[in-house]
Amino acid sequence: MQNELLAVAVAAAQAGGEVLKRYFGGLRPEEVSEKGVNDWVSAADRASEDVILEMLHRLTPGIGVLAEESGRRGDAGLSWVVDPLDGTANFVRRFPHFGVSVALVEDDRPLLGAVFDPLRDDLFSAAAGKGAWRNGAPCRVSTRPGLAGSFLATGFPFRVHPVIDTYLAMFREVFLQSGAIRRPGAATLDLAHTAVGIFDGFFELALSPWDLAAGILLIRESGGVVTNFDGGRDVFTSGNVIAGGPSVHRELLRIISARWTES
Ligand code: IPD
Ligand code: CA
Ligand code: CA
Repeated sequence: MQNELLAVAVAAAQAGGEVLKRYFGGLRPEEVSEKGVNDWVSAADRASEDVILEMLHRLTPGIGVLAEESGRRGDAGLSWVVDPLDGTANFVRRFPHFGVSVALVEDDRPLLGAVFDPLRDDLFSAAAGKGAWRNGAPCRVSTRPGLAGSFLATGFPFRVHPVIDTYLAMFREVFLQSGAIRRPGAATLDLAHTAVGIFDGFFELALSPWDLAAGILLIRESGGVVTNFDGGRDVFTSGNVIAGGPSVHRELLRIISARWTES
């Protein structure tokens, strides 16, 4: 059953990705609007979500859905959690870096996940207790022994301006202790790229369940550690995430939790 449902997650993420490829570079201004300050949605987000939800409902009619653009439908216990286009700000500016994420979650616990990068035809998938794979090959997080020389990803808190000083205090210390930090702009891919050791670690605050669900599982099934800023596992409720190989995670947590507690 787990294999069949993972195949559904993968097929849905790929179907959404195909829709996005058709829209990429061709969005008309009237197809883009602002949901909130600096928070974009486009015809591509909606078309991808429509295709994904149609497939999920057809193949798994008994399972509820929480999708970014259309909200919750059906049972909240076991549900699909869908980000139909992660990296909308990149997408609308024609910056070629975005993904699709589909996860199966039971009571805030991700069971299955698929993250698809359509422009690179790069597929990341994971099943709780079974492993994580990139295009079929097993994923492993980086084994870097600490932050020195590390290559990290982060996201800026552009929707929660009041936390900027806390974020900058964290960023400052992490910046001074690491090798390089990137802000690619698609959290699902940041997590997937951490799961395969491209990034040694990743941190961001105020993310949503659809940004996190598949990526959290990818990290854990790749031997990595994911927590919130207090070191707890309830990343979903807080939306704040630190992920990485065990040693890099430990050092990030030490820096970030201290700034978080002071704030
Ligand atoms: C966003 C991206 C971005 C992160 C934001 C997310 P969206 O997702 O993942 O990297 O910094 O917080 O909301 O809105 O493009 O699906
Ligand atoms: Ca997102
Ligand atoms: Ca999105």
